[in-house]
Amino acid sequence: MNTHTSINLRDTIDPVDDIVLALSMARGLDEIMATVRERARRLVGSDGITFVLRDGDQCYYADEDAITPLWKGQRFTAETCISGWAMANRQVVTIEDIYADDRIPHAAYRPTFVRSLAMVPVRQEDPVAAIGAYWAWRHQPSAREIATLQRIANSAAVAMTNVGLIEALVTAKEEAVRAKDAIIFAMASLAEVRDNETGNHIHRTQYYIRALAEEARDRFPELDDRTVDLLFKCAPLHDIGKIGIPDAILLKPGKLDPEEFAIMKTHAEKGRVAIEAAEKKLGPSEFLKLAKEIAWTHHERWNGAGYPRGLAGSDIPLAGRLMAIADVYDALVSKRCYKQAIPHSEAVDIIVKERGRQFDPELIDVFLSVAPKFDDINQQFTDD
Ligand SMILES: [Fe+2]
Ligand SMILES: [Fe+2]
Repeated sequence: MNTHTSINLRDTIDPVDDIVLALSMARGLDEIMATVRERARRLVGSDGITFVLRDGDQCYYADEDAITPLWKGQRFTAETCISGWAMANRQVVTIEDIYADDRIPHAAYRPTFVRSLAMVPVRQEDPVAAIGAYWAWRHQPSAREIATLQRIANSAAVAMTNVGLIEALVTAKEEAVRAKDAIIFAMASLAEVRDNETGNHIHRTQYYIRALAEEARDRFPELDDRTVDLLFKCAPLHDIGKIGIPDAILLKPGKLDPEEFAIMKTHAEKGRVAIEAAEKKLGPSEFLKLAKEIAWTHHERWNGAGYPRGLAGSDIPLAGRLMAIADVYDALVSKRCYKQAIPHSEAVDIIVKERGRQFDPELIDVFLSVAPKFDDINQQFTDD
């Protein structure tokens, strides 16, 4: 006959392991202290627990859990308190009778229940904190109690180091993001001053592409919040390649002849090269990847008649297909030195006629429903 013995896993987990696990997952100092406050007293079997932070030459009693209040929120100079002594000497302290020990500031203890204590430094080699356990009756802390306290303190030390590392990483990451944003805007404004299209072209196209992308979400699930936000940020770089176009062509007050136009067209490829160079310096980023896609493909046409590569249909990245509509709409409704501004409704007609030719047919359906927003954006960022 087969007999099955079932083991309740819960019963086999050492309760100290639980707190060690909880500490390892803590995201900040407050969580570390809360974990110790909520669990340590029961595990050690004491009447009180304190979490003391080293703050220069002071000991800050940051958190506690005790039968009656101890010193939460108070500061003592390190020489006058036992946690300071434990941290300075990198030693565990156990005191059976606090009134017989002259390291103890008796006046601070008299209003409390404390009779015996144990104090364990957190991070033994260079203490940053200490955890205290207190008993209301005269009690010699046992080896087992001290071992438990030490395990908790060691886990808290690891957790505090992790939190410090995580915070440093977050700060470094935020700085990197800020630096990237700054570089990108510097690049975009460089393109802007080199262009005869007025500065607001860059802002308007940024808002058009966002409006279009938001409206297109139902049909293109890849347009999640993050991607739409990235599109908005990347759009200013779409003509970055114009930096490499000679002034005589870029600033020519009139239509370009075929030869000049051929040179002008190289701005899409030049944009790709410029952003790829930035990628090599700054490291790969989703931002630069998308910016490159836009710069490289915003003059491709759905029917394959565009440049630089003559891509067709969905071989053209979605970002490029979106940018194409935003860019052409703005060129139509804006006044240029060689042409008048075309009214909104006419611009919409012209664009819709290119459905399935110059532009992605599905995106033109989207454009039609969001066109009034384009008009608003255009009014909002006028060039005059
Ligand atoms: Fe362009
Ligand atoms: Fe443009």
